[in-house]
Amino acid sequence: MTLLPLHETINRWIDEAYIPQQPQAMIKTLSRMACSNLTALASMADSFPVGDGLVYAGYEEVECPIISAFVTYRKEYPLHRTGALKFKFAPAQDDGSGFEALVIAAWVSDEDIGVQMIVMACMPRAYASHWLTFEQECHRIASSAITYRDKVYIVGGAEDTFDATVDWNDVYLPADLKAGIMQDVDAFFEKGVAIYQRLKINPFRKLLLAGVPGTGKTMLCSALAKWAQAKGRFVIYVSGANQFGAKFWKIHQALDMAAESDSPTIVIVEELDAYLDEESKAQLLNVLDGSETPMNPRGTIMIATTNHPEIIDNRVMKRPGRLDRIFIIPELEDEQSAEDMLRAYLGDDWCDQHRTIIPRLLNKPAAFIREVALSALTVAAYQDLDGLPLEVLVTSLESLEKQIEAKDDFLTAHKRTPIGLIGQGRRNGNRS
Ligand SMILES: Nc1ncnc2c1ncn2[C@@H]1O[C@H](COP(=O)(O)OP(=O)(O)OP(=O)(O)O)[C@@H](O)[C@H]1O
Ligand SMILES: [Mg+2]
Repeated sequence: MTLLPLHETINRWIDEAYIPQQPQAMIKTLSRMACSNLTALASMADSFPVGDGLVYAGYEEVECPIISAFVTYRKEYPLHRTGALKFKFAPAQDDGSGFEALVIAAWVSDEDIGVQMIVMACMPRAYASHWLTFEQECHRIASSAITYRDKVYIVGGAEDTFDATVDWNDVYLPADLKAGIMQDVDAFFEKGVAIYQRLKINPFRKLLLAGVPGTGKTMLCSALAKWAQAKGRFVIYVSGANQFGAKFWKIHQALDMAAESDSPTIVIVEELDAYLDEESKAQLLNVLDGSETPMNPRGTIMIATTNHPEIIDNRVMKRPGRLDRIFIIPELEDEQSAEDMLRAYLGDDWCDQHRTIIPRLLNKPAAFIREVALSALTVAAYQDLDGLPLEVLVTSLESLEKQIEAKDDFLTAHKRTPIGLIGQGRRNGNRS
Protein backbone atom coordinates (compact mmCIF):
# COMPACT_ATOMS: atom_id res chain seq x y z
CA MET A 1 0.00 0.00 0.00
CA THR A 2 1.40 3.42 -0.88
CA LEU A 3 0.84 6.14 1.62
CA LEU A 4 -0.81 9.21 0.13
CA PRO A 5 0.59 12.63 0.98
CA LEU A 6 -1.60 14.18 3.65
CA HIS A 7 -3.01 16.92 1.44
CA GLU A 8 -4.15 14.21 -1.00
CA THR A 9 -5.90 12.35 1.77
CA ILE A 10 -7.70 15.49 2.83
CA ASN A 11 -8.52 16.35 -0.75
CA ARG A 12 -10.06 12.98 -1.40
CA TRP A 13 -12.08 13.05 1.75
CA ILE A 14 -13.51 16.46 0.80
CA ASP A 15 -14.29 15.16 -2.70
CA GLU A 16 -15.86 11.93 -1.57
CA ALA A 17 -17.48 12.66 1.77
CA TYR A 18 -18.23 16.39 1.83
CA ILE A 19 -18.86 17.79 -1.66
CA PRO A 20 -21.49 15.22 -2.71
CA GLN A 21 -23.68 16.41 0.14
CA GLN A 22 -23.59 20.06 -0.94
CA PRO A 23 -26.34 21.42 -3.20
CA GLN A 24 -24.10 24.01 -4.95
CA ALA A 25 -21.01 23.84 -7.12
CA MET A 26 -18.06 23.82 -4.74
CA ILE A 27 -14.47 24.98 -4.95
CA LYS A 28 -11.43 23.98 -2.89
CA THR A 29 -8.61 26.33 -1.91
CA LEU A 30 -5.42 26.12 0.06
CA SER A 31 -6.03 28.50 2.91
CA ARG A 32 -4.08 30.54 5.42
CA MET A 33 -3.03 29.08 8.76
CA ALA A 34 -4.75 31.96 10.49
CA CYS A 35 -8.15 30.35 9.76
CA SER A 36 -7.32 27.64 12.26
CA ASN A 37 -5.92 30.05 14.87
CA LEU A 38 -8.45 29.96 17.71
CA THR A 39 -7.14 33.12 19.37
CA ALA A 40 -7.44 35.04 16.11
CA LEU A 41 -10.93 33.65 15.59
CA ALA A 42 -11.93 34.68 19.10
CA SER A 43 -10.91 38.25 18.22
CA MET A 44 -12.82 38.32 14.94
CA ALA A 45 -15.48 41.02 15.06
CA ASP A 46 -19.06 39.76 15.32
CA SER A 47 -20.77 40.26 12.00
CA PHE A 48 -17.56 41.00 10.12
CA PRO A 49 -18.79 41.94 6.61
CA VAL A 50 -17.47 39.78 3.79
CA GLY A 51 -19.26 41.50 0.91
CA ASP A 52 -22.69 41.62 -0.77
CA GLY A 53 -24.48 42.09 2.55
CA LEU A 54 -23.10 38.87 4.03
CA VAL A 55 -21.48 38.77 7.46
CA TYR A 56 -19.46 36.24 9.45
CA ALA A 57 -21.77 34.34 11.81
CA GLY A 58 -19.39 32.13 13.82
CA TYR A 59 -17.88 28.71 13.46
CA GLU A 60 -18.39 25.26 14.91
CA GLU A 61 -16.11 22.28 15.32
CA VAL A 62 -17.15 19.35 13.20
CA GLU A 63 -16.21 15.72 13.28
CA CYS A 64 -13.60 14.72 10.71
CA PRO A 65 -12.71 11.02 10.66
CA ILE A 66 -9.38 11.49 8.86
CA ILE A 67 -7.76 14.19 11.03
CA SER A 68 -8.00 14.18 14.80
CA ALA A 69 -8.42 17.47 16.58
CA PHE A 70 -5.83 18.97 18.86
CA VAL A 71 -4.75 22.45 19.74
CA THR A 72 -1.30 24.00 20.15
CA TYR A 73 -0.77 26.74 22.72
CA ARG A 74 1.58 29.64 23.23
CA LYS A 75 1.56 30.33 26.95
CA GLU A 76 -2.14 30.25 27.80
CA TYR A 77 -3.33 31.25 24.33
CA PRO A 78 -4.75 28.53 22.11
CA LEU A 79 -3.24 28.80 18.66
CA HIS A 80 -3.77 26.33 15.85
CA ARG A 81 -6.38 23.62 15.91
CA THR A 82 -6.15 20.61 13.64
CA GLY A 83 -9.24 18.86 12.31
CA ALA A 84 -12.34 20.39 10.77
CA LEU A 85 -14.17 23.67 11.39
CA LYS A 86 -17.35 24.86 9.69
CA PHE A 87 -17.61 28.63 9.18
CA LYS A 88 -20.99 30.27 8.70
CA PHE A 89 -21.83 33.42 6.80
CA ALA A 90 -25.32 34.90 6.93
CA PRO A 91 -27.13 37.85 5.38
CA ALA A 92 -26.87 40.95 7.59
CA GLN A 93 -30.54 41.69 6.95
CA ASP A 94 -32.94 38.83 7.30
CA ASP A 95 -33.30 38.21 3.60
CA GLY A 96 -31.44 36.06 1.14
CA SER A 97 -29.27 33.12 1.96
CA GLY A 98 -25.82 32.65 3.38
CA PHE A 99 -23.17 30.01 2.88
CA GLU A 100 -20.86 27.70 4.78
CA ALA A 101 -17.18 26.96 4.35
CA LEU A 102 -15.43 23.84 5.58
CA VAL A 103 -11.82 24.13 6.75
CA ILE A 104 -9.56 21.19 7.49
CA ALA A 105 -6.17 21.81 9.10
CA ALA A 106 -3.34 19.36 9.72
CA TRP A 107 0.34 19.43 10.57
CA VAL A 108 2.63 17.94 7.99
CA SER A 109 6.25 17.08 8.44
CA ASP A 110 8.38 17.18 5.35
CA GLU A 111 12.11 16.84 4.94
CA ASP A 112 12.31 19.93 2.78
CA ILE A 113 9.92 22.27 4.51
CA GLY A 114 10.07 21.03 8.10
CA VAL A 115 6.89 20.96 10.16
CA GLN A 116 4.14 23.04 8.58
CA MET A 117 0.43 23.39 8.86
CA ILE A 118 -1.69 22.89 5.78
CA VAL A 119 -5.17 24.29 5.78
CA MET A 120 -7.65 23.36 3.06
CA ALA A 121 -10.96 25.09 2.60
CA CYS A 122 -14.04 24.23 0.58
CA MET A 123 -16.89 26.61 -0.14
CA PRO A 124 -19.55 27.24 -2.80
CA ARG A 125 -17.85 28.53 -5.94
CA ALA A 126 -20.11 31.58 -5.97
CA TYR A 127 -18.73 32.68 -2.58
CA ALA A 128 -15.00 32.19 -3.06
CA SER A 129 -14.25 35.91 -2.96
CA HIS A 130 -16.30 36.36 0.23
CA TRP A 131 -14.28 33.61 1.81
CA LEU A 132 -11.01 35.24 0.77
CA THR A 133 -12.09 38.47 2.45
CA PHE A 134 -12.68 36.56 5.66
CA GLU A 135 -9.41 34.68 5.34
CA GLN A 136 -7.51 37.94 4.91
CA GLU A 137 -9.07 39.34 8.08
CA CYS A 138 -8.09 36.19 10.03
CA HIS A 139 -4.55 36.66 8.81
CA ARG A 140 -4.50 40.33 9.74
CA ILE A 141 -5.66 39.56 13.26
CA ALA A 142 -3.31 36.61 13.72
CA SER A 143 -0.27 38.59 12.67
CA SER A 144 -1.16 41.51 14.90
CA ALA A 145 -0.20 41.67 18.54
CA ILE A 146 -3.49 40.38 19.76
CA THR A 147 -2.18 37.38 21.64
CA TYR A 148 0.21 39.47 23.69
CA ARG A 149 -1.92 42.42 24.48
CA ASP A 150 -1.90 42.03 28.24
CA LYS A 151 1.78 41.06 28.42
CA VAL A 152 4.96 42.86 27.55
CA TYR A 153 6.36 41.07 24.51
CA ILE A 154 10.11 40.52 24.65
CA VAL A 155 12.29 40.63 21.53
CA GLY A 156 15.63 38.91 21.91
CA GLY A 157 15.21 37.74 25.48
CA ALA A 158 15.36 34.41 27.22
CA GLU A 159 11.58 34.54 27.79
CA ASP A 160 8.73 35.48 25.42
CA THR A 161 6.82 37.83 27.65
CA PHE A 162 6.64 39.35 31.11
CA ASP A 163 4.01 41.07 33.21
CA ALA A 164 4.53 44.76 33.92
CA THR A 165 3.79 45.11 37.62
CA VAL A 166 5.13 48.50 38.74
CA ASP A 167 2.50 51.10 39.65
CA TRP A 168 3.02 54.63 38.49
CA ASN A 169 2.55 55.88 42.07
CA ASP A 170 5.40 53.71 43.34
CA VAL A 171 7.94 55.66 41.31
CA TYR A 172 9.34 58.57 43.33
CA LEU A 173 10.42 61.37 41.06
CA PRO A 174 9.61 65.07 40.87
CA ALA A 175 5.89 65.31 40.08
CA ASP A 176 6.35 67.59 37.08
CA LEU A 177 8.88 65.23 35.53
CA LYS A 178 6.58 62.23 35.92
CA ALA A 179 3.62 64.15 34.58
CA GLY A 180 5.72 65.40 31.67
CA ILE A 181 6.75 61.92 30.60
CA MET A 182 3.27 60.48 30.86
CA GLN A 183 1.75 63.42 29.07
CA ASP A 184 4.25 63.14 26.24
CA VAL A 185 3.33 59.51 25.63
CA ASP A 186 -0.41 60.00 26.05
CA ALA A 187 -0.63 63.13 23.92
CA PHE A 188 1.23 61.41 21.10
CA PHE A 189 -1.14 58.46 20.95
CA GLU A 190 -4.32 60.45 21.61
CA LYS A 191 -3.68 63.43 19.32
CA GLY A 192 -0.20 63.37 17.85
CA VAL A 193 -0.58 60.37 15.56
CA ALA A 194 -3.40 62.02 13.62
CA ILE A 195 -1.33 65.18 13.22
CA TYR A 196 1.75 63.27 11.98
CA GLN A 197 -0.53 61.43 9.54
CA ARG A 198 -1.99 64.65 8.22
CA LEU A 199 1.52 65.99 7.66
CA LYS A 200 2.54 62.69 6.06
CA ILE A 201 5.20 62.09 8.69
CA ASN A 202 5.79 58.59 10.01
CA PRO A 203 4.13 58.64 13.47
CA PHE A 204 7.22 57.49 15.31
CA ARG A 205 8.34 59.28 18.47
CA LYS A 206 11.57 58.71 20.35
CA LEU A 207 12.20 59.52 24.00
CA LEU A 208 15.40 59.03 25.96
CA LEU A 209 15.52 58.64 29.74
CA ALA A 210 19.06 59.47 30.84
CA GLY A 211 20.46 59.30 34.35
CA VAL A 212 22.98 57.71 36.67
CA PRO A 213 22.33 54.14 37.86
CA GLY A 214 19.55 53.48 40.32
CA THR A 215 17.40 56.54 39.69
CA GLY A 216 14.39 54.55 38.52
CA LYS A 217 14.65 54.42 34.72
CA THR A 218 13.86 50.71 34.56
CA MET A 219 11.06 51.20 37.05
CA LEU A 220 9.62 54.05 34.99
CA CYS A 221 9.63 51.89 31.86
CA SER A 222 7.79 49.14 33.67
CA ALA A 223 5.24 51.58 35.13
CA LEU A 224 4.70 53.16 31.71
CA ALA A 225 4.21 49.68 30.24
CA LYS A 226 1.57 48.77 32.79
CA TRP A 227 -0.27 52.05 32.36
CA ALA A 228 -0.13 51.84 28.55
CA GLN A 229 -1.43 48.26 28.52
CA ALA A 230 -4.42 49.30 30.61
CA LYS A 231 -5.22 51.69 27.75
CA GLY A 232 -5.06 48.92 25.15
CA ARG A 233 -1.60 49.76 23.88
CA PHE A 234 0.93 47.15 22.94
CA VAL A 235 4.35 47.09 24.63
CA ILE A 236 7.51 45.47 23.25
CA TYR A 237 10.68 45.19 25.31
CA VAL A 238 13.99 44.79 23.50
CA SER A 239 16.29 42.58 25.53
CA GLY A 240 19.98 41.82 25.34
CA ALA A 241 19.47 38.70 27.43
CA ASN A 242 19.63 35.89 24.89
CA GLN A 243 22.80 34.44 23.39
CA PHE A 244 23.07 37.21 20.77
CA GLY A 245 23.43 39.99 23.36
CA ALA A 246 22.56 43.62 22.70
CA LYS A 247 22.36 43.72 18.92
CA PHE A 248 20.97 46.48 16.81
CA TRP A 249 18.85 44.19 14.63
CA LYS A 250 16.74 43.43 17.67
CA ILE A 251 15.62 47.06 17.73
CA HIS A 252 14.73 46.77 14.08
CA GLN A 253 12.80 43.58 14.69
CA ALA A 254 10.83 45.25 17.48
CA LEU A 255 9.96 48.19 15.22
CA ASP A 256 8.83 45.78 12.51
CA MET A 257 6.60 44.06 14.98
CA ALA A 258 5.22 47.40 16.13
CA ALA A 259 4.36 48.21 12.53
CA GLU A 260 2.39 45.00 12.19
CA SER A 261 0.78 45.18 15.58
CA ASP A 262 -2.40 46.96 14.58
CA SER A 263 -2.10 48.92 17.86
CA PRO A 264 -0.45 52.01 19.26
CA THR A 265 2.86 50.54 20.42
CA ILE A 266 5.62 51.36 22.89
CA VAL A 267 9.05 49.88 22.19
CA ILE A 268 11.33 49.94 25.23
CA VAL A 269 15.09 49.76 24.68
CA GLU A 270 17.05 49.79 27.91
CA GLU A 271 20.68 50.81 27.90
CA LEU A 272 20.56 51.98 24.33
CA ASP A 273 24.31 52.71 24.44
CA ALA A 274 25.01 48.97 24.73
CA TYR A 275 23.46 48.42 21.28
CA LEU A 276 25.75 50.87 19.54
CA ASP A 277 28.98 49.81 18.02
CA GLU A 278 30.41 51.96 15.22
CA GLU A 279 28.45 50.20 12.51
CA SER A 280 25.18 50.31 14.42
CA LYS A 281 25.43 54.02 15.05
CA ALA A 282 24.93 54.75 11.37
CA GLN A 283 22.00 52.33 11.22
CA LEU A 284 20.51 53.90 14.30
CA LEU A 285 20.63 57.31 12.66
CA ASN A 286 18.60 56.00 9.73
CA VAL A 287 16.09 54.31 11.98
CA LEU A 288 15.71 57.38 14.17
CA ASP A 289 15.27 59.56 11.13
CA GLY A 290 12.34 57.39 10.20
CA SER A 291 13.83 56.66 6.79
CA GLU A 292 14.36 53.00 7.64
CA THR A 293 11.61 52.63 10.17
CA PRO A 294 8.61 50.53 9.25
CA MET A 295 5.49 52.62 9.67
CA ASN A 296 2.86 51.81 12.27
CA PRO A 297 -0.21 53.80 11.24
CA ARG A 298 -1.40 53.80 14.86
CA GLY A 299 1.86 55.21 16.16
CA THR A 300 5.01 53.85 17.77
CA ILE A 301 6.94 55.42 20.64
CA MET A 302 10.42 54.19 21.37
CA ILE A 303 11.49 54.80 24.95
CA ALA A 304 15.20 54.26 25.45
CA THR A 305 17.27 54.53 28.62
CA THR A 306 20.95 55.17 29.17
CA ASN A 307 23.55 55.91 31.84
CA HIS A 308 25.90 57.10 29.12
CA PRO A 309 24.27 59.74 27.00
CA GLU A 310 27.75 60.71 25.78
CA ILE A 311 28.08 57.36 23.98
CA ILE A 312 24.93 58.06 22.03
CA ASP A 313 26.49 59.99 19.26
CA ASN A 314 26.48 63.76 19.35
CA ARG A 315 24.77 63.60 16.01
CA VAL A 316 21.88 61.76 17.64
CA MET A 317 21.58 63.86 20.74
CA LYS A 318 21.94 67.27 19.20
CA ARG A 319 19.54 67.02 16.30
CA PRO A 320 15.87 67.33 17.18
CA GLY A 321 13.79 64.80 15.32
CA ARG A 322 16.28 62.04 15.95
CA LEU A 323 15.50 61.87 19.63
CA ASP A 324 12.41 63.97 20.17
CA ARG A 325 12.79 64.45 23.91
CA ILE A 326 15.49 63.71 26.45
CA PHE A 327 14.32 63.43 30.04
CA ILE A 328 17.03 63.58 32.66
CA ILE A 329 16.06 61.25 35.51
CA PRO A 330 17.64 62.88 38.57
CA GLU A 331 18.82 61.70 41.92
CA LEU A 332 16.49 62.66 44.75
CA GLU A 333 16.83 66.37 45.20
CA ASP A 334 13.94 67.44 47.37
CA GLU A 335 13.29 66.45 50.96
CA GLN A 336 9.64 65.71 50.37
CA SER A 337 10.27 63.01 47.74
CA ALA A 338 13.03 61.49 49.87
CA GLU A 339 10.75 61.38 52.90
CA ASP A 340 7.81 59.98 50.91
CA MET A 341 9.99 57.22 49.60
CA LEU A 342 11.59 56.37 52.93
CA ARG A 343 8.17 56.26 54.57
CA ALA A 344 6.84 53.99 51.85
CA TYR A 345 9.68 51.55 52.37
CA LEU A 346 9.56 51.65 56.19
CA GLY A 347 5.77 51.27 56.33
CA ASP A 348 4.55 50.80 59.92
CA ASP A 349 8.13 51.00 61.18
CA TRP A 350 8.38 54.66 60.20
CA CYS A 351 8.53 57.19 63.05
CA ASP A 352 9.06 60.95 63.01
CA GLN A 353 12.56 60.63 64.47
CA HIS A 354 13.69 59.02 61.23
CA ARG A 355 13.21 62.36 59.55
CA THR A 356 16.64 63.48 60.82
CA ILE A 357 18.42 61.38 58.19
CA ILE A 358 16.51 62.84 55.25
CA PRO A 359 19.10 65.55 54.38
CA ARG A 360 21.72 62.79 54.06
CA LEU A 361 19.58 60.99 51.48
CA LEU A 362 19.54 63.91 49.09
CA ASN A 363 21.48 63.83 45.82
CA LYS A 364 21.59 60.07 45.93
CA PRO A 365 19.78 57.74 43.55
CA ALA A 366 16.48 56.39 44.80
CA ALA A 367 17.97 52.90 44.86
CA PHE A 368 20.22 54.16 47.66
CA ILE A 369 17.24 55.00 49.88
CA ARG A 370 15.74 51.65 49.16
CA GLU A 371 18.92 49.89 50.23
CA VAL A 372 19.24 51.98 53.42
CA ALA A 373 15.67 51.06 54.36
CA LEU A 374 15.91 47.38 53.46
CA SER A 375 19.16 46.74 55.26
CA ALA A 376 17.97 48.62 58.39
CA LEU A 377 14.69 46.70 58.47
CA THR A 378 16.53 43.41 58.04
CA VAL A 379 18.94 44.16 60.90
CA ALA A 380 16.07 45.22 63.18
CA ALA A 381 14.13 42.06 62.40
CA TYR A 382 17.21 39.87 62.82
CA GLN A 383 17.92 41.38 66.22
CA ASP A 384 14.27 41.01 67.21
CA LEU A 385 14.02 44.73 67.92
CA ASP A 386 10.77 46.45 68.59
CA GLY A 387 10.25 48.79 65.65
CA LEU A 388 13.19 50.44 63.94
CA PRO A 389 15.44 52.47 66.27
CA LEU A 390 17.00 55.55 64.68
CA GLU A 391 20.52 54.25 65.46
CA VAL A 392 19.94 51.20 63.28
CA LEU A 393 18.79 53.35 60.39
CA VAL A 394 21.81 55.64 60.80
CA THR A 395 24.21 52.68 60.94
CA SER A 396 22.70 51.31 57.75
CA LEU A 397 23.06 54.72 56.08
CA GLU A 398 26.65 55.13 57.15
CA SER A 399 27.77 51.69 56.13
CA LEU A 400 26.28 52.22 52.70
CA GLU A 401 27.97 55.63 52.39
CA LYS A 402 31.30 54.03 53.27
CA GLN A 403 30.77 51.27 50.76
CA ILE A 404 30.13 53.78 48.00
CA GLU A 405 33.16 55.87 48.97
CA ALA A 406 35.35 52.78 48.98
CA LYS A 407 34.07 51.82 45.54
CA ASP A 408 34.68 55.33 44.17
CA ASP A 409 38.23 55.33 45.55
CA PHE A 410 38.83 51.94 44.02
CA LEU A 411 37.60 53.04 40.62
CA THR A 412 39.56 56.29 40.73
CA ALA A 413 42.72 54.42 41.72
CA HIS A 414 42.26 52.00 38.85
CA LYS A 415 41.51 54.57 36.20
CA ARG A 416 45.15 54.64 35.18
CA THR A 417 45.09 50.98 34.18
CA PRO A 418 42.98 50.40 31.09
CA ILE A 419 39.57 48.98 31.91
CA GLY A 420 38.27 49.65 28.41
CA LEU A 421 37.50 45.99 27.94
CA ILE A 422 34.56 46.27 30.29
CA GLY A 423 33.11 49.17 28.36
CA GLN A 424 33.83 47.53 25.04
CA GLY A 425 32.27 44.25 26.12
CA ARG A 426 29.11 45.97 27.23
CA ARG A 427 28.79 47.93 24.06
CA ASN A 428 28.92 44.76 22.10
CA GLY A 429 26.29 43.28 24.28
CA ASN A 430 28.49 40.94 26.18
CA ARG A 431 27.81 41.71 29.80
CA SER A 432 29.84 39.04 31.45
N1 LIG B 1 12.52 56.79 41.45
C1 LIG B 1 12.36 55.67 42.17
N2 LIG B 1 11.26 55.47 42.91
C2 LIG B 1 11.14 54.35 43.64
N3 LIG B 1 12.04 53.37 43.70
C3 LIG B 1 13.15 53.51 42.98
C4 LIG B 1 13.35 54.66 42.17
N4 LIG B 1 14.55 54.54 41.57
C5 LIG B 1 15.06 53.37 41.96
N5 LIG B 1 14.23 52.74 42.81
C6 LIG B 1 14.48 51.45 43.46
O1 LIG B 1 15.77 51.02 43.05
C7 LIG B 1 15.68 49.87 42.21
C8 LIG B 1 16.60 50.04 41.02
O2 LIG B 1 16.11 51.08 40.20
P1 LIG B 1 16.06 50.98 38.62
O3 LIG B 1 16.49 49.64 38.20
O4 LIG B 1 14.75 51.45 38.13
O5 LIG B 1 17.19 52.05 38.27
P2 LIG B 1 17.78 52.43 36.85
O6 LIG B 1 17.70 53.91 36.77
O7 LIG B 1 17.12 51.65 35.79
O8 LIG B 1 19.27 51.99 37.02
P3 LIG B 1 20.32 51.56 35.86
O9 LIG B 1 20.69 52.84 35.18
O10 LIG B 1 21.44 50.97 36.62
O11 LIG B 1 19.64 50.60 34.97
C9 LIG B 1 14.23 49.77 41.80
O12 LIG B 1 13.84 48.44 41.62
C10 LIG B 1 13.52 50.40 42.97
O13 LIG B 1 13.31 49.48 43.99
MG1 LIG C 1 17.85 50.18 34.46
